[in-house]
Amino acid sequence: MGTYGNKYLVSKKLAAVLLFFFVAWSVGLGLIVYYAGVANLDINQVSEAGSLSLKDETNPSESKAKVTDVRLPRHLVPEQYDLQLTPFIIPDNWTINGYVEITMVCKSAGKNVTLHRVDTEIQNKTVVVQDDSGKDIEISSYSYDHDREFFILQLAENLVIGKRYIVKIKFTSYLKDNLKGFYRSEYTDQESKDETKYLAVTQFQPTDARRAFPCFDEPGIKAKFKVSLGRRKDMSSIANMPIKDKGVAMEGDDGYVWDHYENSVKMSTYLVAFVVSKFEFRESEKTENGVRFRIWTRKDAIPQTEYARDIGPKMLKFFEDYFQVKFPLPKQDMIAAPDFAAGAMENWGLITYRETSLLFKPGVSAASNLQRIALVISHELAHQWFGNLVTPSWWSDLWLNEGFASYVEYLGVEAVQPQIKLLEQFIVNDLQDVLSLDALESSHPISIPVKHPDEINEIFDRISYGKGASIIRMMDKFLTSESFKKGLTNYLRAFQFDSAEQDDLWTHLTEQAHRDGTLRSDLTVKEVMDTWTLQTGFPLITVTRDYDAGSAKISQERFLLNQTQSSESRWWVPITYTSPGQDFNKTYNNIWLSDKQWSLELKDMPNKDEATIFNVQQTGFYRVNYDKKNWKLLAETLNKDHTSIHVINRAQILDDALELAKVGKLDYQTALSLTGYLSRETEYIPWYSALSGLSHIKDMLKRTSAYGEFKSYMLKLLAPIYQKLGFDGKADDEHLDILLRKKIVSWACSMGHEDCVNKVTGTYRSWMGMTDPDAEDKNPIDVNLKSVTYCNAIAEGGEKEWDFAWKRYENSNVGTEKANILYALGCTEQVWLLNRYLNMSLTAGSGVRRQDGSKVIGSVARNTIGRYLAFNFLRDKWELVKSYYGSQSFTLTGLVHNVLADRNSKFEISELKAFQKARVGDLGTSERAVKQAIEAGLVNVQWMEQNYETVWTWLKDYNVENQRG
Ligand code: BES
Ligand code: ZN
Repeated sequence: MGTYGNKYLVSKKLAAVLLFFFVAWSVGLGLIVYYAGVANLDINQVSEAGSLSLKDETNPSESKAKVTDVRLPRHLVPEQYDLQLTPFIIPDNWTINGYVEITMVCKSAGKNVTLHRVDTEIQNKTVVVQDDSGKDIEISSYSYDHDREFFILQLAENLVIGKRYIVKIKFTSYLKDNLKGFYRSEYTDQESKDETKYLAVTQFQPTDARRAFPCFDEPGIKAKFKVSLGRRKDMSSIANMPIKDKGVAMEGDDGYVWDHYENSVKMSTYLVAFVVSKFEFRESEKTENGVRFRIWTRKDAIPQTEYARDIGPKMLKFFEDYFQVKFPLPKQDMIAAPDFAAGAMENWGLITYRETSLLFKPGVSAASNLQRIALVISHELAHQWFGNLVTPSWWSDLWLNEGFASYVEYLGVEAVQPQIKLLEQFIVNDLQDVLSLDALESSHPISIPVKHPDEINEIFDRISYGKGASIIRMMDKFLTSESFKKGLTNYLRAFQFDSAEQDDLWTHLTEQAHRDGTLRSDLTVKEVMDTWTLQTGFPLITVTRDYDAGSAKISQERFLLNQTQSSESRWWVPITYTSPGQDFNKTYNNIWLSDKQWSLELKDMPNKDEATIFNVQQTGFYRVNYDKKNWKLLAETLNKDHTSIHVINRAQILDDALELAKVGKLDYQTALSLTGYLSRETEYIPWYSALSGLSHIKDMLKRTSAYGEFKSYMLKLLAPIYQKLGFDGKADDEHLDILLRKKIVSWACSMGHEDCVNKVTGTYRSWMGMTDPDAEDKNPIDVNLKSVTYCNAIAEGGEKEWDFAWKRYENSNVGTEKANILYALGCTEQVWLLNRYLNMSLTAGSGVRRQDGSKVIGSVARNTIGRYLAFNFLRDKWELVKSYYGSQSFTLTGLVHNVLADRNSKFEISELKAFQKARVGDLGTSERAVKQAIEAGLVNVQWMEQNYETVWTWLKDYNVENQRG
């Protein structure tokens, strides 16, 4: 053990003594939990032989102020990693043998090597630093900065600027089941029956490459990776690049071999990926550009890969044409992992998915699953350029990555799968819900400084994705698609294999647009876009017409949910308008409302008795309000000939009107009367908007006396479309008819529509009566109505119905089917079943996978009876929930969002506040979600005070009138 050993032994005793006093003191103060965490860290630092003993280091800094100076020093820049990893995919072992050599260049004065490292045991004494002549540089000390997740080697001499150095490290890391780093996933299959099979797979974004190997784990620090994976002979491995030498004998171990991979292109650590498994693959035809395309999954799911295999290469080709830059790797693998935290991850050349985002089984999976798969594949392929080839220098520009991919994913799907009509769905899937969220004071600017990993994880949110996508779509229109595309190509070519910031993109777009004359020469993209990315929120444009003069005044202000607040923010707003029956395709704006301008006068309004409609195809990220008369004209037009207004603008009008009413900027009589025309509406997206607007009213009235009137009103609205579409799918259904039917049936059933409820319980009963209910091709329930049917039947039923579904969940081989059932199980109204289900969500081995637990809790929370149970559960078990879901992006935030949603009484708000207070500093990635729930809840309380009676009266009157008439 040598000198080091003695020193550490002494310190360990000392630490134990200190710990004793610490604890004794803490007990007195009632702070034992908090300090035990801190004290543990000290022991970690000083364990045997100078290596780091492994405690779970997930968030060691919890309950303390978070560190903010998390960036690596810049004096050393890595050029090349030579990395060897051998995961031991063996229960009770679960370790990874690792060795890495990193070649670095010295860029400025320094005397240390600082790397990222978490949950990894480094054998300090084996660490070597050498200069380019192979001479050892003496290491004077090793240290671990847990808060910053650093491993620091202090050197005995100064590094020389311009010289190359190499650091060599042996280490052990761990295959946990925590869905991050290099982790393990499991499944059973036909072949092995009860025996569980395991695989090892990675998820590194944003800050978890450091859990697999010590590295410079920042997106802007790019290097090449030469990887070797050690694996058991009966498994196979995959990495970003193709294998160069496969199955090379491993010295001293007969059962294991090496797969040596080709050196990679220059790339960020978060995009590195590995898989070691017994998976099989299906290969597509090579793309025109010679890219080899494979879809991997467990053997039993191989038939479900056909759809991805078909569309994947076509989408890759689409993006090559769109970006005008060839895909730079020789192959693209895509793999579905049974356990996966996000929906999918864009690792370069090895995209990883959860099963529901990649695998489709005709006859079992629904049209909505197909759409989701197309969209996710398109999204991740778009990242191969936007994100992988050119990468944000730091996570504060994450929105650019995610927002961009979230917009162009629509273009990829539109090109390859036009029947999905995805482009038309943009506003309902991505724009309108973010308009609601971004109306909160507690929203945040798209572009936001982030430091600590928790903060980084927190911004994978609807603002980065949905608002990001929306303002990029707006830009595509105000620059024209031609200039936008050319500018993009220039940007990608200028920064390929490098990193960039949003301003770099703005520069290239401005140059192109000025060249093309599509943007006026005194204006830059940066000037416009800064108003959208640096400020929170978006404008409300108010149009006040002078009917005699044929003119209109338009003005802007921030649209805020809480009308007691105000804001000085102003935007550069692209203004477009048209009128019913006129051109709805001109989305390019000749008019700007500038960020210095409060208002503007327009001369060419239509004649007196014609409506005007602003924000053509809702391409601008803003809402529009009109004077009373124009609203009336719009209502008349919708009633007379709704098709004279573009389908997207019909959806926009409904959404804007209901949201304006919600905040008190439009009276409910006007807003609700607009919904009257829906009895003739047959298109998906206006219905979507209307129903999401009305669902706010539903959520507010659910537990009140007015709910009966609301239900009768809704049943009247829904009757004609329910009738027209019918309950059963038809051969000539278009994709959007199928989605619409699902929505209508789901609403009809939840409003108590008799025929609907009878049908769902009837078909479910016949399923239960089958001798072989697991024979998927014989399931009597329409594939597209499965989730509605399961949910309603389980809600109506009891333990028998629940247990039946659970059995099907356990036996199903199809991810989409399992997800359907899991969601529906939260629909039961039996309190004890709900509580049992909640507990399963946190129990390993219960059958609910960790990746799905938050969805289980969410499904219980959505249920009127389950919401209190879910909230109690969350409060009681916060520590456990947090450690179980860690600081995974999406998960905790989404969970908190769902469980805390739709509060509308003072008492409920006080409960939320108490929760926030009790957990101050301990909310992890969900801090903002709690704040937003409270703000939205407070507004709901006001809403109840101001609108409850009005809305109730309106519904009553409507129902009485329509009974008579
Ligand atoms: N880069 C993300 C995956 C990710 C998310 C990694 C959060 C780390 C934290 C990926 O490109 C993504 O956005 N996936 C989405 C699907 C997409 C279609 C919106 C997802 O996982 O839901
Ligand atoms: Zn993404």
